[in-house]
Amino acid sequence: MPSSRFLIDRLLRPIDFATATSIVELGAGTGCITKTLLKRMSPRCHLTCVEVEEEFARACSEIDDARLTVHHACATDLRKVLEGAGIAEVDYIVSSVPLSILDDELADEILEVTQSCLRSGGTFIQYQYSPSYLGKLNARYEDVRLGFTLRNIPPAVVYECVTA
Ligand SMILES: C[S@@+](CC[C@H](N)C(=O)[O-])C[C@H]1O[C@@H](n2cnc3c(N)ncnc32)[C@H](O)[C@@H]1O
Repeated sequence: MPSSRFLIDRLLRPIDFATATSIVELGAGTGCITKTLLKRMSPRCHLTCVEVEEEFARACSEIDDARLTVHHACATDLRKVLEGAGIAEVDYIVSSVPLSILDDELADEILEVTQSCLRSGGTFIQYQYSPSYLGKLNARYEDVRLGFTLRNIPPAVVYECVTA
């Protein structure tokens, strides 16, 4: 089931759309978060989506917006994807990738690569259905804030992780 509008609102709350110029979305699925990001983004902001399932990547590629680029790739390839597009670092990474059901090594690699792609002061925003990643994220980021929304099925936890 796609994320509810309440979860999407909560997830995107930390984003300063007036100043953001480069946003990444990991695990775009059928594009419910993607479309809201595009609605809120300024004309000079670019959105890079990375989705591992071919069918979902194709569906998102059909969204007609010049500010959007969709890549059929694993989140672990984010560095390569950005380098290929000439993007050195990004302001925000919004992730729906289900870290807790992935192999630990893969999930750790995703956390590593996302952190390395953020600019100083950039924010990694991730949702989960439990706070099980709080320890891991606290160990990596300067500032981690935890939010919740009950108005999603199931209720979700949102992490906002700001780099030093
Ligand atoms: C829970 S769905 C979220 C879909 C949508 N963003 C939403 O919030 O409704 C998780 C998405 O992450 C994608 N995904 C899972 N593992 C991934 C990975 N390693 N790299 C990129 N995307 C991944 C899945 O294919 C799926 O589309």
